[in-house]
Amino acid sequence: MRLLITGGAGFIGSNFVRYILKKYPDYQVMVLDALTYAGNRDNFEENIWQNPKFSFYHGNICDKEVVDSLMRDTDTVVHFAAETHVDRSILEAGTFIQTDVYGTYVLLEAARKYKVKRFVHISTDEVYGEAKSPTGENRPSLETDPLMPKSPYAASKAGADRLAFSYYTTYQLPVVISRCSNNYGPNQYPEKLIPLFITNALENEPLPVYGSGKNTRDWIHVLDHCAALDILLHSEGQDGEAFNIGGGQEFNILQISKTILKMLEKNESALQFVLDRPGHVMRHAVDTSKIKNVFGWQPKIDFDEGIKQTVDWYIKNESWWQKIKGKSIEYQEFTKKWYEERN
Ligand SMILES: NC(=O)c1ccc[n+]([C@@H]2O[C@H](COP(=O)([O-])OP(=O)(O)OC[C@H]3O[C@@H](n4cnc5c(N)ncnc54)[C@H](O)[C@@H]3O)[C@@H](O)[C@H]2O)c1
Repeated sequence: MRLLITGGAGFIGSNFVRYILKKYPDYQVMVLDALTYAGNRDNFEENIWQNPKFSFYHGNICDKEVVDSLMRDTDTVVHFAAETHVDRSILEAGTFIQTDVYGTYVLLEAARKYKVKRFVHISTDEVYGEAKSPTGENRPSLETDPLMPKSPYAASKAGADRLAFSYYTTYQLPVVISRCSNNYGPNQYPEKLIPLFITNALENEPLPVYGSGKNTRDWIHVLDHCAALDILLHSEGQDGEAFNIGGGQEFNILQISKTILKMLEKNESALQFVLDRPGHVMRHAVDTSKIKNVFGWQPKIDFDEGIKQTVDWYIKNESWWQKIKGKSIEYQEFTKKWYEERN
């Protein structure tokens, strides 16, 4: 298999690259990544750079020429590349629409032209908005629920999700779509909740909790997500289908914060309640019966164990996150701008 992995230098993408190269040593893996603030060459260990089956292309998915030149040599696409941070989308939505919607269009067009055999589109459970039935009953989202995204990030992902679907219905492009819940694990950029809280706690900085901290998310370890994507990548007969993926482990933000503080033996006085995020979703949760029934997929990593491993990873890899968090002007500027706008 000749795989084109977009956004492979980001959090989930780099975990997926590692997973695929280990499990399928014969596969050719090409990564296309623009190396935005969230993309990081350091997410690939030396043995990956040395692997003859791995190649890295620094480029933008919105660039038709670059995409075309790589798609020519590809039979399968796994499309992770996106702007991904909800807070940033509230400050500046334009780049989200450009990358997440237009960039997806560029990839779909090239995939159609070069007749790729499988296009795995990475969507998100954020596309559903609140986890509710169409009549307002509080329950995990189903694939058949209406898409009611509540942030510019979620809306641009919803656009890309349906655009990918339309390339199946219109052009029979063999697309399959994943809608996963909140991932956690190694190599996640430290502006996202779990790595932000771990690294702040390690630095004895406050942990900023939006609103009441009662908003809940369904947490999944990134390797469970990778295993589900592996199944979708090799699936047959499911063209055009969307699949929810989730850990089935719901915790609110306060519970997550307290777990992290306890693990690091820090005091709960580090919690700092801040003004709520506009459009903040109260509950994201997905019903994963479909992927379980069709493919027998189940998450394997228990949250207690997964979070312990993740905290350990951040303790052991301080130089990885310090380079981004402590020394990055970009990171400092984003944080400053965000807090200025929120106060
Ligand atoms: N993190 C989660 O909890 C989660 C949950 C469900 C779905 N997703 C989806 O999974 C995918 C990956 O998420 P992540 O958390 O790893 O994100 P991330 O922000 O860590 O990584 C995104 C990657 O995309 C690259 N990129 C951004 N714009 C690009 C462009 N124009 N051209 C090429 N590369 C570009 C970045 O450099 C980075 O390497 C996204 O599509 C996201 O919507 C994430």
